Amino acid sequence: MSDAWSLVYHGFDPKAEGLREALCTLGNGYFATRGAAPEASDDGVHYPGTYVAGCYNRLKTEIAGRDVWNEDLVNVPNWLPLTFRPEGGEWFDLRDVELLDYRQELHLATGELRRALRYRDSGGRETSVASRRFVHMAHPHLAAVETTIEPLNWSGTLDVRSALDGRVVNNGVARYRRLNNRHLEAVETEAVGDDAIFLRVRTSQSRIDLAMAARTHVYPNGSLKNTDRRLVQDAAYIAHDLTVPITQGAALTVEKVIALYTSRDHAISECGLEARKAVGRARTYDALLRTHARAWEHIWRRFDIAIVPDREDGDDKRELRILRLHVFHLLQTASPNTIDLDVGVPPRGLHGEAYRGHIFWDELFIFPLLNLRMPEITRALLMYRYRRLDEARIAAQEAGFQGAMFPWQSGSNGREETQQLHLNPKSGRWLPDRSHRQRHVNAAIAYNVWHYYQVTEDLEFLSFFGAEMFLEIARFWASIATYNADHGRYEIRGVMGPDEYHDGYPDTDQAGLLNNAYTNLLAVWVLCRALEVIELLPQNRSQELCEKLAISPDELGRWDEISRQMRLVFFDDGILSQFEGYERLDEIDWDRYREKYEDIHRLDRILEAEGDTPNRYKLSKQADVLMLYYLFSTEEIKELLERLGYTFSPDAVPKTIEYYMARSSHGSTLSRIVDSWVLARSNRPGSWELFTEALESDVRDIQGGTTPEGIHLGAMAGTVDIVQRCYSGIDTRGDVLWLNPRIPEQLRCLRLRILYRGQPIELDMERDRLMVTSLPSAAHTIQLGFRDEIFQLRPEETREFSL
Ligand code: BGC
Repeated sequence: MSDAWSLVYHGFDPKAEGLREALCTLGNGYFATRGAAPEASDDGVHYPGTYVAGCYNRLKTEIAGRDVWNEDLVNVPNWLPLTFRPEGGEWFDLRDVELLDYRQELHLATGELRRALRYRDSGGRETSVASRRFVHMAHPHLAAVETTIEPLNWSGTLDVRSALDGRVVNNGVARYRRLNNRHLEAVETEAVGDDAIFLRVRTSQSRIDLAMAARTHVYPNGSLKNTDRRLVQDAAYIAHDLTVPITQGAALTVEKVIALYTSRDHAISECGLEARKAVGRARTYDALLRTHARAWEHIWRRFDIAIVPDREDGDDKRELRILRLHVFHLLQTASPNTIDLDVGVPPRGLHGEAYRGHIFWDELFIFPLLNLRMPEITRALLMYRYRRLDEARIAAQEAGFQGAMFPWQSGSNGREETQQLHLNPKSGRWLPDRSHRQRHVNAAIAYNVWHYYQVTEDLEFLSFFGAEMFLEIARFWASIATYNADHGRYEIRGVMGPDEYHDGYPDTDQAGLLNNAYTNLLAVWVLCRALEVIELLPQNRSQELCEKLAISPDELGRWDEISRQMRLVFFDDGILSQFEGYERLDEIDWDRYREKYEDIHRLDRILEAEGDTPNRYKLSKQADVLMLYYLFSTEEIKELLERLGYTFSPDAVPKTIEYYMARSSHGSTLSRIVDSWVLARSNRPGSWELFTEALESDVRDIQGGTTPEGIHLGAMAGTVDIVQRCYSGIDTRGDVLWLNPRIPEQLRCLRLRILYRGQPIELDMERDRLMVTSLPSAAHTIQLGFRDEIFQLRPEETREFSL
């Protein structure tokens, strides 16, 4: 790595290639392509995947005598192939040549990936190759790759091959390889005009047509030259072979511009026609790069963050560079181009095949960043849920509940997509997957609607879409809660909390837990806010909604009652129990496992392979109870507990944090985000340490092999949000933008630009000073809260506070 705007790699390392490919993925929110070399195919070292947002397909596989269906985000045809060989020689392959020099750079400011290398082949020929590419941020259907070849000690003839390859399968995740993975059917290939090729394939079950066209031009010595070309054609593969004379010291540039459309696109006649038309109209690499880079410049104006670490030695740009990398990948997955699509944010980006591109609860970690920068994107992503509200209603009904029960994993049509069986790669066993019992995803959706509204005051969205989802989710929580006369309280049975290590009680076959604290308290919060949502809406709209959903005053009364009588379980010292019966579980011998296994992130797999189960122990994959302190301020938790008639003891907070942190294996990258956040007030050095570890999640692939299968967007957005909301103490509550900075020692200053209720605001923080400047805008005066006081902030006003 070098400056704060680029990721730089020296040398070629086959073992690290999968990781680099994921981290060097280029995308624009509509589609993304891994940073695989243009000459490479899926060969065990490289994996050139391309994924189109929302393009799913289902396939059936027989496992252990059962038919299981899985829905996957499809690896669509590879548009990258651009390779060459000296006439009569072998096609260029890094593994067959002597590499003299190799450097790869990802440019974050402009969204361009470059690679420069020099090699000597078996015939002693030395050649330099420079390649660059982008996936266009302003024209979401376009991408381009360009390769410049210079013979350093030879002259002769060069064969160039530029292809579109539709023979690809979903092969990016080793543990899914026993499942059927051939999602594409060949439809047609053909030449288009003199200089382009065309490929169309179709997904086998969802029947989505994918059309790609590629135009290839050669520029010997910088000017365009018409060259003879030959068509290489197969059912799902098409290439242009060009033969070009090449002279020692004279660079030859080959440019390939592609267009990608699908039958799901808006404003099209037919996707094949649009793809052909688009490559015909597309300008040159350099001209396209200019408009692409400008689109990124505009994004960075909204999304950049500035931090100056207090460090004299070492790489003082490291944190900033990684934060920017995280923003970059988030915006490549969900961007302004997403606003028009019907998609959610896959937790592993459009960067790989892990979790099959499904949509989980991870948006809870992602939306806060988008809300305060480009809330239009959040709104579009929330609409993905709204369109699937009916499916969620049916799911609730089928499970015997009311309201809407959104799936733990969602894909094309909102059906539950959680796999029925999962493979433990450590034991080789297929096991029933109960993680769909994480009903808390419903609360996350409601939380996201509420916070989007708090930041934007978008009453139209709330009124037309958000409130309906909210009320149906509240209704679900009220219906899953049952009254237990022994305790005189309501309880929730058969669920899982965020900690996926506990999916039931040891020694029983029954799935799910009783009274998971996180789920129960979130349910209470949803019910309280649902009552508020009804008040917030214009009177005629709440009446309409209550009529439409048949919500009676009695039902509202029941919501209120449950929200005051939900059961939580505490240990004797006031620590909130993760679920009922947790205290009866055994402690695990952490040292023994640390000694025995190099990596104990996934203790669940280790234990299962040993014939044991994590259900027996007091341990967790990730934050569960602590999620409460991540999502809510201490005041909110106090309010919720007191509403329930429990005593809130401030002393219990640090004890609770310490207790659960000591028992976490951080088996999810989300875990450190939460832990760093909850420590920010009480233990700033501890918080900073966890924050820096979370920063390394992907750049160093700290879970040992998960990043090549896709980046971790929750952790990526979460780290940026720690800087944005946690260290600045931003809280958007009750029509007030609250600020209460708590900058860690390791930071000298922190600068942000956020958007609150239409008002762009600059925040400039040092350890002893906070400056808040509202920029020119047409927004109304906003309410700014600093510590306990509320101020009015008009556009173009600056306020300074000492810290
Ligand atoms: C975590 C979940 C998360 C999922 C997708 C899992 O490992 O336990 O909380 O939603 O990954 O990121």
